[in-house]
Amino acid sequence: MNGRVTVVGLGPGRPDWCTPAVTARLAAATDLVGYTSYLAMVDPAHPGRRHPSGNRVESERARQALDLAAAGGDVVVVSSGDPGVFAMASAVLEQLDAHPDLWRDVDVDVQPGITAAQAVASRVGAPLGHDFCVISLSDVLKPWAIIERRLDAAAAADFVIALYNPRSVHRPHQFTDAIAVIARHRAPHTPVVVGRHVGRNDETVTITYLARLDPDSIDMSTIVVIGSSTTRVLDRPAGSSMYTPRAHTTTAPTGPTEPFR
Ligand SMILES: C[S@@+](CC[C@H](N)C(=O)[O-])C[C@H]1O[C@@H](n2cnc3c(N)ncnc32)[C@H](O)[C@@H]1O
Repeated sequence: MNGRVTVVGLGPGRPDWCTPAVTARLAAATDLVGYTSYLAMVDPAHPGRRHPSGNRVESERARQALDLAAAGGDVVVVSSGDPGVFAMASAVLEQLDAHPDLWRDVDVDVQPGITAAQAVASRVGAPLGHDFCVISLSDVLKPWAIIERRLDAAAAADFVIALYNPRSVHRPHQFTDAIAVIARHRAPHTPVVVGRHVGRNDETVTITYLARLDPDSIDMSTIVVIGSSTTRVLDRPAGSSMYTPRAHTTTAPTGPTEPFR
């Protein structure tokens, strides 16, 4: 009997930001596979067998899920956010690609989720309203030289840039280095949004400016979205918003009312 692997995105944390399709796959699952912290986001009353693992063993986790499905399981691999964004969907497909003779009859399916960049963007308005890109600052799976090259190219091309995995305790200086690369091409008053634990109980979301970014406010539970040259901050009595207009113009972006130091 052949089983199935579904790689799902749970969203950033709020249960009502998880799609009904993901909820349905979870309800049918015999086995739940994932990084320990992400499995903890699944209802503790779920009757399925849980297979938690650490955050540096993606290949092993993918093979485990495929083996469980080959034995007949209806296996759900959980990711936070979207499973296709720096997450397990690629890891599962890489294993299928590397081992064409294994798991031939296992169905593999990906169910999307809300990625962290979309979640933080919605909290402040619409900073992703025009062309944008996402870049992970983690150099665990790619060399730092590639990251710097991509940051430089994306900043030069005037994309809004969403930074994932921005600042680990093992490489705190890299965040500062990344901002220095972007600042070659962006004005000091470029709007930036910093979202930490977005969609969770301890969420914080702050609009600031490139020259005022405080590295100590950034960690691995944070996403940082740096505006393009057209991204604006809209201050109203009801609160501040940040957005990137639908049309690209050469109009200078709004800056803070007080001067920069
Ligand atoms: C390995 S990536 C996984 C991304 C995930 N698949 C997604 O689509 O959001 C982990 C990074 O995503 C970002 N992230 C994920 N959830 C977040 C949240 N709720 N609030 C802020 N950042 C989040 C952080 O930058 C974190 O270091």
